[in-house]
Formats: sequence, structure tokens, C-alpha cells
Amino acid sequence: MRNVFGVDVGGSGIKGAPVDLERGDLAQERHKVLTPQPATPDAVAGRVAEVVSHFGWSGPVGITFPGVITANTVRTAANVAKKWVGVDAARLLGDRLGGLPVTVVNDADAAGVAEMRFGAGKGRKGTVILLTFGTGIGSAVFNDGHLVPNTELGHLELHGHEAEKHASTKVKEDEDLSWSHWARRVHKYLAHVEMLFSPELFIIGGGVSRKADKFLPLIEGIKGAKGLKGVDGTGGFDSIASIKAEIVPAQLQNNAGIVGAAMVAAGR
Ligand code: BGC
Repeated sequence: MRNVFGVDVGGSGIKGAPVDLERGDLAQERHKVLTPQPATPDAVAGRVAEVVSHFGWSGPVGITFPGVITANTVRTAANVAKKWVGVDAARLLGDRLGGLPVTVVNDADAAGVAEMRFGAGKGRKGTVILLTFGTGIGSAVFNDGHLVPNTELGHLELHGHEAEKHASTKVKEDEDLSWSHWARRVHKYLAHVEMLFSPELFIIGGGVSRKADKFLPLIEGIKGAKGLKGVDGTGGFDSIASIKAEIVPAQLQNNAGIVGAAMVAAGR
């Protein structure tokens, strides 16, 4: 099978396209609709069906979800309607798609799978962590190319907050943070994750990866600085820690979720 359909369900948009699994790229230009608010199971399923039928697709479909997924069932829903918890998403979405075979996977895991095969993580051994910055913070952890599914590193606690409530790009927008202020928060978060996992490589994904030139040099600058005091001014362990891991932007950028969802659906 060369093409499988991929859908990425995000906090603001739902986008999808047939994916060419050999090239790891979209086979046709993607179609995007707005995520319904509130993002209830029925409303989201309706929009996913709109995206898939736009292409007249009949075949397997991989769909990302911004929460923990085990056995195609939603276990957490931090940034979408809580009604999702406990829903067999593959069954719900498959029914709405007229019985097409559906596989559901965590959004960051899907993006990670695509980046490891076709993007910034290609051929990389050891521990690689992809972090997506968007409405929340998603994580995908790999060791020697093998995924440990459903890690939820966006919910680590940092200075008494959940990390994603402090350093997501939504927070950057809501609090109108400058790139340098946000980069300091992200640096502190990466230092904390490094302390726990000692990865060789961080891949920064999510919509913000398109703007890597705006913040990666800032993070690299902080990374190199010794004895830096954190934004909270405490100069505590994680605010002075320097990061040893390489930090690179995701290469598939906004299409990583679509490509990865299709790959997972195809069992790749
Ligand atoms: C969710 C994760 C998800 C991330 C990015 C977090 O709030 O708990 O499962 O990967 O947001 O959407």
C-alpha cells in the first residue's frame, strides 16, 4: 500500500491529506477546517468526515488526537472536551467515515514517528525527544528509533505550574511574551527534561517550528551562557543548568502529524 490518509486533529485546526508513505510527504495538497468549539466527540467527528470526504477517500485512515490513546481509546483530554475520555475514538470516527478502517494515535507520537523516519531524527540512535509546542506541549520519546508511546512531558511540573501552562505557544500568545522571554521559559523546560532523560537530541515541533530562526538562536545563546539566572531570578538548579543535547527544529513542520498518523495506520 503506497497511500494512506492522515488527519491531524489540533486545538485550532483539523487538517488532512492522502500521504505517500514511500516519500513521507503529502500526496495531494492538504485540506483544513477549523476545530469546532467546544471540541466534543460528535462535533470533531463531523469535521474529520468533512476533511476525508473532500478527497472522496476510501481506504485506511490514521487520525491524531491531542491526548493519551491506548487501544484506540481516549484516556485524557487536556485541551479538548472532557467528554472524549473513555471514547473508543477509532469506532466513533470509523462509523462517521462510513466504516473505513481507522487508527488513532497521540498527536506528538505521530509527529515523532514521521520525524524519526523522514525528518530531523532520521538515523538517530540513543534517546531522542520530540516536543511539540502549540495549544499544549506534546512529547514523543524514542530510544534507538523505538517509540515509548503516550509520554506526557507537557504536564511535568515546573515552578509550581504544569509546563504547558507556562511555555506553550498558546501561553506566549495569551501573555504576549516576547520571543526572548518565551525562549527562556522553553530553555528552562528543556533543561528540566534533560535532567530527567539525558537525550542526545531534542526536536522542536508544532506550528512554531516554522519560526525556528526566531527562537532557536535565543535558546542556543542561553544554552551557552554559564551561571545564568532564570526569569524568576532564583538562580536555582534548573535555571542555571546548561543543556548538552543538540536542539533542532522539526523538518516536516506542520505536516508531521498527518504523515505520522498515516504511517501508524499502515503499521510502519
Ligand atoms: C496532551 C498531550 C498532547 C499535547 C499536544 C497535551 O495537553 O496531554 O497528549 O500530545 O497536549 O497536543
